[in-house]
Amino acid sequence: MNEHWKLLEPVKVGTMSLRNRMVMSPMESRLSRPDGSVTRAMIDYYEARARGGVGAIIVENTFVDDRESRSSLSSSGLHSDHMIAGKSELAEAIKAHGAAALIQISHGGRQCHPEATGRQPVAPSAIPCKVTGVMPRELAPVEIEEIQDAFAEAARRAKQAGFDGVEVHGAHGYLICSFLSPYTNKRTDRYGGRLEKRALFALEVIKKVREKVGDDFTVGYRMSADEYVPGGLTLEETSRFARMLEAAGVDYVHVSAGIYESGHHIVQPMYLPKAYLVHLAWGIKKVVKIPVITVGAHDVSTAEEALQKGKADLVALGRSLIADPELPEKLASGRIGDIRPCIRGNEGCSSRFDTAEPQRCEVNPACGREREFRITPAAVRKSVMVVGGGISGLEAARVAALRGHEVTVVEKGERLGGHLIEASVPKFKEKTRQLLDWAINQAHEGGVKVRLGTEATASLIGQARPEVLLVAVGSDFLIPPVPGCDKECAATAGEVLLGKRTPGDKVVVVGAGLIGCETALYLAEELNKQVTIVEMLDEMLVGVQGACQEALRERLQEMGVVVHLGWRLDEVSDRAVVCRDEKGQRLEIEADTVVLATGLVARKDVAERFKGLAHEVYIIGDCLQARKIYHCFEDAWRAVLQI
Ligand SMILES: Cc1cc2nc3c(=O)[nH]c(=O)nc-3n(C[C@H](O)[C@H](O)[C@H](O)COP(=O)(O)O)c2cc1C
Ligand code: SF4
Repeated sequence: MNEHWKLLEPVKVGTMSLRNRMVMSPMESRLSRPDGSVTRAMIDYYEARARGGVGAIIVENTFVDDRESRSSLSSSGLHSDHMIAGKSELAEAIKAHGAAALIQISHGGRQCHPEATGRQPVAPSAIPCKVTGVMPRELAPVEIEEIQDAFAEAARRAKQAGFDGVEVHGAHGYLICSFLSPYTNKRTDRYGGRLEKRALFALEVIKKVREKVGDDFTVGYRMSADEYVPGGLTLEETSRFARMLEAAGVDYVHVSAGIYESGHHIVQPMYLPKAYLVHLAWGIKKVVKIPVITVGAHDVSTAEEALQKGKADLVALGRSLIADPELPEKLASGRIGDIRPCIRGNEGCSSRFDTAEPQRCEVNPACGREREFRITPAAVRKSVMVVGGGISGLEAARVAALRGHEVTVVEKGERLGGHLIEASVPKFKEKTRQLLDWAINQAHEGGVKVRLGTEATASLIGQARPEVLLVAVGSDFLIPPVPGCDKECAATAGEVLLGKRTPGDKVVVVGAGLIGCETALYLAEELNKQVTIVEMLDEMLVGVQGACQEALRERLQEMGVVVHLGWRLDEVSDRAVVCRDEKGQRLEIEADTVVLATGLVARKDVAERFKGLAHEVYIIGDCLQARKIYHCFEDAWRAVLQI
């Protein structure tokens, strides 16, 4: 063990003695049954994280009654005694690996999706959530009492099921948070008005929970210390509220931020800085004596720094543990370089939260299906040639080597990484760079042989005679068939990011998809260019996860990037681009450089040529169809687990 890591120090929280200061942040896994009970997949998912060495696991947001509390279609439930048996299996599985087990109890309030409950959402006041767009109804005093009792009953069930504690979900705009917030609570009775009155609902919940579970059970509280909405909660009030929580007997405060309407502050995408919520935890820590947990875009170094500087007592890791359940164990055994980084692209975790599909991860295909996607030794060791050293090829090589195969990667270029090389150029893509470094190192350490600058011709394959070919030859930037796109002033996003082409001062980026918008941000922010984006669709960032869209859009706006939607590129001239809308109207924009970000085309024909050149041939990644990192990893695992 590395003694210098404060993260690895044991700590006492409430009634619990934790083996270290890392806790798994509560994250709705969408692995519950429709009735809110646990599944085998859910137990496997949490068990993998407990086995990975985390100090405590806070099981996801779990609804407390069978009325309006369930926030989404696939939420976990503790609304009835029928839930106890399954939740007990879950707690048992977590604790068997030395982690403490807590469960977050929650009422979704105005942010509930009515399709999840079949009822109109309820709230302190009838103010619709701008994300769901649904008008809630104001709760009557008698209903308030019933909900508080439901929280107490859910806590009682958690204790009966063997959990070490509950975390009361007072964050993210859900019911308790919305009572505290002046943004959503406009009541004129004893639950509305000044802070003390808005806090009453939460404090009464705590009191009832504590009365029900007694003192030998941990009761924590999660808050949004800043809601990041105009007129919403800020640290000024939430720090005063934290003192009230402490006085009410709460054992720890877990400091998050945001509500659905500022969702990018709940699950911070890569376009927001690392660990930027630490100041909120610090603000709370200054006024209470109970342990404070910081959360939000932490990796091990930011987490350690927060503890070293005394800004928090524990760190909650959410997506980092989705991406790598073994993070704590790797840290403890000095294998930091082996930690697979979360890239904060939200493709799999949050994107599928939005569609109520089970938890997945763009860099960890085993997430949410730990049983099916286990890397086991192959029955027969085979010689495997991977053609193409992009991320799909590298991941396939890594996993194949872990399964015991003899693996060689043959890459035509002089560097490994494929499109991730240019994709990780902008500073805000730091985590993508780390992922690429990780993939390359893991392949090397796993004994994968790499041949750079080598084309996998039929004769080379004939000589090497691999039993298995994994074809991952990638994709090319699409050059639209538009007059002038072959001019000197036009370049692909890839060429510009790689520095192969030097853009002039005025740049027009064609395409407002993810590549176009990221390139535009890079040009404006890091190269100081005056940037305009044109997009033929009426929307930008189509298919990109909501929080990522919000954050990227906000940052482009801050940088003064102008976006024209609904304009199709018609011509590139020497000093301008000409676009037309669907009515044929003309828009001319001055441009020294035109950056093409109009999509990627799979190298399907190239890939097809490898068929029949080995006993087993698998085509994976972008050359099958140009898609996201998520699919590159998914394809790689699916193929390699068959070999
Ligand atoms: C898929 C997903 C589901 C989440 N569900 C919950 C939840 O049930 N309760 C909660 O308080 N926060 C939830 N969060 C927020 C996380 O607990 C955490 O605060 C956030 O992801 C930032 O931490 P991280 O950067 O370590 O992931 C969720 C986040 C994700 C990505
Ligand atoms: S899907 Fe992306 S953001 Fe989510 S945990 Fe995995 S790497 Fe992180």
